[in-house]
Amino acid sequence: LLSMSQSCRVAILGATGAVGTELLSLLEERNFPLSYLTLLASERSAGKHVTFKGESLPITAVSAEAFEGVDIVLASAGGSTSKAWATAIVEAGAVMIDNSSAFRMDPQVPLVIPEINPEAARHHQGIIANPNCSTILMNMAVWPLHQVSPVQRIVVSTYQSASGAGARAMAELEQQSRDVLEGKPARPEILPYPLAFNLFPHNSALNAEGYCEEEVKMVKETQKIFGAPDIRITATCVRVPVLRAHSEAVNIEFGQPFPVDQARSLIQGAPGVTLVEDWQKNYFPMPLEASGQDNVLVGRIRQDISNPNALDLWLSGDQIRKGAALNAVQIAELLLA
Ligand code: A2P
Repeated sequence: LLSMSQSCRVAILGATGAVGTELLSLLEERNFPLSYLTLLASERSAGKHVTFKGESLPITAVSAEAFEGVDIVLASAGGSTSKAWATAIVEAGAVMIDNSSAFRMDPQVPLVIPEINPEAARHHQGIIANPNCSTILMNMAVWPLHQVSPVQRIVVSTYQSASGAGARAMAELEQQSRDVLEGKPARPEILPYPLAFNLFPHNSALNAEGYCEEEVKMVKETQKIFGAPDIRITATCVRVPVLRAHSEAVNIEFGQPFPVDQARSLIQGAPGVTLVEDWQKNYFPMPLEASGQDNVLVGRIRQDISNPNALDLWLSGDQIRKGAALNAVQIAELLLA
């Protein structure tokens, strides 16, 4: 267990990426008590500089020495980089808060959403995993309801932004959009297919049952975070031409009818979520409005007309913030507490 008092020494691994950049601005914005900050990325970025609190800080190529004396490593440089450096980080005595999927299903590694299972973070052995972005956003809306009436089954469809595939995928969507409007072909390089003016099922690896990795993450990670291995979940994940916030249509089945008004007031009172509904204006959560916000926007809560025990809802949440960087910084704040 990490016992940090006043201020802490932090390293960001993947500091030049979409999530790494957001980690930096969150540390600044939330006035995270830092006594030392080191910014790490690949050799490609060594020598670059970024601005933090008005100061220009250098990016260094990752090495084992870079973790010496560090308390917390916020890692967001992909699964293989996390796997490659985890031992060096733990041996240096630091706690790794890992954004990748590398350790999420490891029984020794807590998988934490601070609004849901903060106590799990206490039992870490050097690594705490940050859940998948689509999983975090869905769980933020479902957990307050699950507390009142245990969820039996979830059917979810996602509308996932380019940011989930990193900064270069976001740049690719912008470039493709310009190209298409100028009558040129959209050239996919990071993503497998053109995303501008298009959408496609999530591009992660498919298993024998026909589910992609992203869908399996939503199932398994939700069961682990809720501590409810029996919840039945099925997901369809889709990449859409949106820059940085994911949306999801979620059907939630309970053991008995769940009054819509009660669900609405639970969402209204829950931390980290905002109820966004104006039924007169047909106004509900939108990814453009969720972008840059800490809270997950939830609305369109309604009775499922095909099942007396189920509700439908719709949400949008910033994939880079609550879906990744914000959740990781909140975990770091738990360690400080
Ligand atoms: P770099 O910019 O030097 O490639 P994103 O998710 O937006 O694509 O960002 C990925 C982040 O992970 C970047 O900061 C990237 O650094 C970093 N990264 C990728 N591969 C490695 C690696 N092998 N070692 C260290 N950092 C890496």
